[in-house]
Amino acid sequence: MQIDLRTSWHIDKVEVPTRLVLAPMAGVSVQAFRRQGRRFGAGLVCSEMVSCAGIEHRNEKTLGYLRVASDEHPLAIQIFGSNPATMAEAARMVEAAGADLVDINFGCPVRKVTKTGAGATLLDDPDLACRIVSSVADAVDLPVSVKMRCGLKNGSRDCLSVGPQLVAAGASILTLHPRSAQQMYTGTADHTLTAELVSLVGVPVIASGDITSRARAQAVLATTGAAAVMVGRGAQGNPWALREIVDGDATEPSREEVVAELVLFIRETVRELGERRASGFLKKFYAWYLGRGRFPRPFKQELVVLDSTEEVERRLIAAAPGALPLIEQLEAELPSGDEVTLALPISAFGGG
Ligand SMILES: Cc1cc2nc3c(=O)[nH]c(=O)nc-3n(C[C@H](O)[C@H](O)[C@H](O)COP(=O)(O)O)c2cc1C
Repeated sequence: MQIDLRTSWHIDKVEVPTRLVLAPMAGVSVQAFRRQGRRFGAGLVCSEMVSCAGIEHRNEKTLGYLRVASDEHPLAIQIFGSNPATMAEAARMVEAAGADLVDINFGCPVRKVTKTGAGATLLDDPDLACRIVSSVADAVDLPVSVKMRCGLKNGSRDCLSVGPQLVAAGASILTLHPRSAQQMYTGTADHTLTAELVSLVGVPVIASGDITSRARAQAVLATTGAAAVMVGRGAQGNPWALREIVDGDATEPSREEVVAELVLFIRETVRELGERRASGFLKKFYAWYLGRGRFPRPFKQELVVLDSTEEVERRLIAAAPGALPLIEQLEAELPSGDEVTLALPISAFGGG
């Protein structure tokens, strides 16, 4: 059965135009990544996880994660934490920022997060997990989504008992990345668990894990009954994978297109993070964009050691001068000056 990924669906009142969701990824899902994802066919994009404690303490860097641009919608902002009241407060800020969904992270396997009782650890404490979900759902008018792993230990099927409880507590949608926290990113995502979860809950389920091609997306949608697939690592430096999955357009981008997208990404990220943070943050993206046989390896290595993003941009354009008119066209198509910064109690940029 061929499933048309270009069909829209709903999460409560929120309409999602395609069956492809761009994954939340810490250290990756900046605004430029999300806007690009929407342009290439993602029907829903997600922020990286934002600490509810950071929001509560009005941490400047954390509040920067709450900026929403008009061409990102629909957008989920993901929060993590273990205190129901603090999570509710963070959810209210997410709503004020203009997000369409508030997403709760019950999947992060990283020790720095789990040792605070947040992320995947909550799968081991369904009562607290449910209190967090109901406290967040009571605090906002937005649909609440939960993203989770299958459990903590290898072989765990805890998602199948916890998932329906989270729905009863107020979750309007679940995303399952069916690996255990212990697995981190090793092995493969077991989407038979996704199919089981779909059969147990009356809300849409998003399937996350190892979706890297249209064939895989079609197979997972058909065999699980999931409402949508989520793509993470496959889209790193490769928005064209999203187009292939949604539209079946498998045309490889030209060097000029690759350079144009990367230059736009660099410029937008510098605007968002500032030159100092952006120049370190962007290094991994150079390898992601220029790999896959698109440019020779020494060229990538050359870029990584350059001091400023301006120099990187100059080298890129020198390598593919035909990218210039494409960059101009991409910039012209971006909505300008409409980036919404929420009415923060303390400005993210004003110091306050
Ligand atoms: C670098 C990186 C950062 C991630 N950060 C988050 C995060 O902040 N929140 C979250 O729910 N999942 C996070 N994930 C998990 C992804 O959203 C996704 O579930 C996982 O990578 C499996 O999908 P994939 O095989 O398409 O990459 C992250 C994954 C990666 C690779």
